[in-house]
Amino acid sequence: MTAPEVRIPRALAAPAPGWTTSADVIVVGSGIAGLTCALRLRERVDRVLLVTKTVLDEGSTAWAQGGIAAALHPEDSPEEHLEDTLVAGVGLCDREAVEALVTEGPRRVRELVALGAEFDLDAEGEIKLTREGGHHRDRIAHAGGDATGREISRALIAALHRVIDDPGIEVVEHALVVDLLQEGDVPDGSGEGEPGTGAPVVGVTLHVIGEGQLDGVGAAYARAVVLATGGLGQIYTSTTNPPVATGDGMAAALRAGARVTDLEFIQFHPTVLFLGEGSTGQQPLISEAVRGEGAFLVDASGRRIMEGRHELADLAPRDVVARAILETMREQGTDHVFLDARHLGADFLEERFPSIVASCRSLGFDPATDLLPVAPAQHYASGGIETDLHGRTSLPGLYACGECSCTGVHGANRLASNSLLEGLVFASRIASDIPARIAAGELPEVVVPAVPAHAGGEAGEGALLDSSQRLTVQRTMTAGSGPVRSAGSTTETAAELARLAALPPSTAAPGPRTWETTNLLHLGQVLTELARRREETRGGHVRSDFPDRDDAHWLRRQSVVVARDRSLTATERSMP
Ligand code: SIN
Repeated sequence: MTAPEVRIPRALAAPAPGWTTSADVIVVGSGIAGLTCALRLRERVDRVLLVTKTVLDEGSTAWAQGGIAAALHPEDSPEEHLEDTLVAGVGLCDREAVEALVTEGPRRVRELVALGAEFDLDAEGEIKLTREGGHHRDRIAHAGGDATGREISRALIAALHRVIDDPGIEVVEHALVVDLLQEGDVPDGSGEGEPGTGAPVVGVTLHVIGEGQLDGVGAAYARAVVLATGGLGQIYTSTTNPPVATGDGMAAALRAGARVTDLEFIQFHPTVLFLGEGSTGQQPLISEAVRGEGAFLVDASGRRIMEGRHELADLAPRDVVARAILETMREQGTDHVFLDARHLGADFLEERFPSIVASCRSLGFDPATDLLPVAPAQHYASGGIETDLHGRTSLPGLYACGECSCTGVHGANRLASNSLLEGLVFASRIASDIPARIAAGELPEVVVPAVPAHAGGEAGEGALLDSSQRLTVQRTMTAGSGPVRSAGSTTETAAELARLAALPPSTAAPGPRTWETTNLLHLGQVLTELARRREETRGGHVRSDFPDRDDAHWLRRQSVVVARDRSLTATERSMP
């Protein structure tokens, strides 16, 4: 069987925009990256429009348990953080991006504290630091024990509420980004310009569940659009990501012709509570910080899984631990292993990990007395919309930050707790770059057309996949492009996704669930194509037919671009 050619439409079928709005900058997403960017930009440009798919604190940030990594301890250094990040990334990190991350990180975390984020403190009143996989030092700041993301989200939303009456910032909740508007998209739908081939981005089409003026599909125009829309975890049957993680921003950028990179590198978190084979959707995460405090992995006979496999044993980089668990499960014909935290004691566990203990107990497991059944589940997309060091994508006017972006800091495998830091650092960089470029005349004011355009210049012709097919997409992706892949599995997955893509469009009515499902399909097709091409095992990409890392052929990053004719061009770049 040969893999079918991948074709991606330029836009989703959607009703013609019924309203318009405009701003200097549109920020899409309200996790750490989106909120940081919007809050900083509002001090530097006249008008920021912040839109989010559901409500402000619904995204992945609020679910982050472990923490935020930064060289905050006097004995630690950005150089050591850099080294650990590069090792975890297995040769594919962009060194300059990592340098920016680790050197600017400590200052950005302290700014977060100044803004109101309350991290856990030690007896001297300094930020308490712990360790997670791949780190050679204690450098993970945490809050509420294991509720770091929730506290960061709370602090940023509180800061937003302090300025919410400011006319310079408008927040629209329940606003799903459908597609990007580009120069050349014209109101009559004839698509005279060159969207999908690098045309500047001038706004987004949005579906808003609102009242009055902003309701249904509309067109929002701006000099610059910042995508901070998070991950794509819902592409798999089980994930630690919340239900909103359907890759909407990534998919919209892909359709518009932005360069998307490293998408085959998907991080599967080693310790996700195993709730049974049929359990789908968001699953309970058991933070790596639990192992950081001394818990360890065992098989059913009590044998320690990580001993002798890596010098850091249970705290080896996440891909190494996930792979060891998968190997054990395969050898022993089981669907989970166990995490043993019993020796840490009830008092310590309840104080240090209150949310995890409560979540486990509510599901019938007590970490103080029971072995916890765990198995790897999707956790993080290391790749995404490629950006430079300023967060600029390959499309003029389009920026990306946070999980939907690919700054190059994660390479083939993100180092634990580097994601909140990445969102913080690169959102701040974007918030400096956009005003500077506006001042330099590089991001001109956008003329809002009297009749709003269709994204892609097309009158809503992009085929849709009905939301009833979502589980089929998830199962197909998990089976063939999941934690372990092969030439056969990715080819079969590609064929099934192509079949879904070719289903008669009439079966699917435009609407949020359908657009999300179609986004998962488009990203699944691209991810599968890149996973099929990469004939080696590295980081978050595991091939059963090529079980070793192959630096001679694959010390390279892969990117894709969708052309105007809907074809996909994949390119490879050697690492410098
Ligand atoms: C965890 O707490 O294990 C997750 C932290 C992360 O994904 O970086």
